[in-house]
This record gives sequence, structure tokens and C-alpha cells, in this order.
Amino acid sequence: MQLSVNGRRREVAYPDEMLVWVLRDELGLTGTHYGCGIGACGSCTVLLDGQVARACLTPARAAAGREVTTVEGLARGEQLHPVQRAFLENPLQCGWCLPGHLMSAAALLERTPDPTDAQIEEAAGVNLCRCGGYNAIRRAVARAAELKREDG
Ligand code: FES
Ligand code: FES
Repeated sequence: MQLSVNGRRREVAYPDEMLVWVLRDELGLTGTHYGCGIGACGSCTVLLDGQVARACLTPARAAAGREVTTVEGLARGEQLHPVQRAFLENPLQCGWCLPGHLMSAAALLERTPDPTDAQIEEAAGVNLCRCGGYNAIRRAVARAAELKREDG
């Protein structure tokens, strides 16, 4: 079966595996992290046609015919995505949750370029951070919105 991942067609041999394992083990895209495996933590968050999805609960075959975006697909060449630049300015502690927060923030800013504090809070809250880095996460998402608007 073929998947479109970060703009490239990729052949996958295990379409019944969960997407997180196909991405990590078959395609070598280890930026998508595995945490709880039950859809609770959000560390495995990827985008399917721009919508957030939990890769630990999504069979790879469910992504067929859709565009899969992982954290490796956010940058445009050398140009980091605004959410990447904003989280560099607002670092987290261990970073295990980070790819999930980046993907959720990227999806939020696509649909809501100028989010309110409440919208940032709501979007950030669906991804857990065991280190309790929520202040940095909220600052980073607000900063990413600024940077994205500056980019135009
Ligand atoms: S590993 Fe998928 S939600 Fe936790
Ligand atoms: S920074 Fe450690 S889990 Fe979020």
C-alpha cells in the first residue's frame, strides 16, 4: 500500500499496523513519538489532510489517499515552521511531548490564525506534558501565531 507522507509517496508493507509504528519503524520518521498508546497523551499526533490525528489509534490503511504530515514535514527546506521557531524560543524540559504540541499548534494556526488565549488553552490542553510545561507551551503557541502572521 502507498501512503503520501510529507509530500512524498511511500510504500508501506504493514498497512494494518498503527500509523505511529509504520512512520517510526518502516519509514524511519522517529519524530512522531509514542507515549500512552491509548489516545490520551497526544505525543503521537500527526496531521491527516491538515486535521490532527492520534497515530497510535489510526491504522496506517486509514491514511491511504490522505496527506500525512509529521513533524519532519513542517519545515520548508531550511525555513523552520513558525511553531518550530516559537518553541525554540520557549524550550520545554524533556521534549517527549513536543512533536505532538507542534502538530496541534500547526493545525490550530491553519484554521485560526489569530487565536484567543482560550483557543490556545483549549488546543494545547489536548496534548499532555508530564513535565508541566504548559506556560511555555501557551507562550510558544501565541508566539507562533505572531511569527506566522509576520510570515504572511
Ligand atoms: S501515544 Fe498516541 S495519544 Fe498517547
Ligand atoms: S516536556 Fe516533558 S513531557 Fe512535555
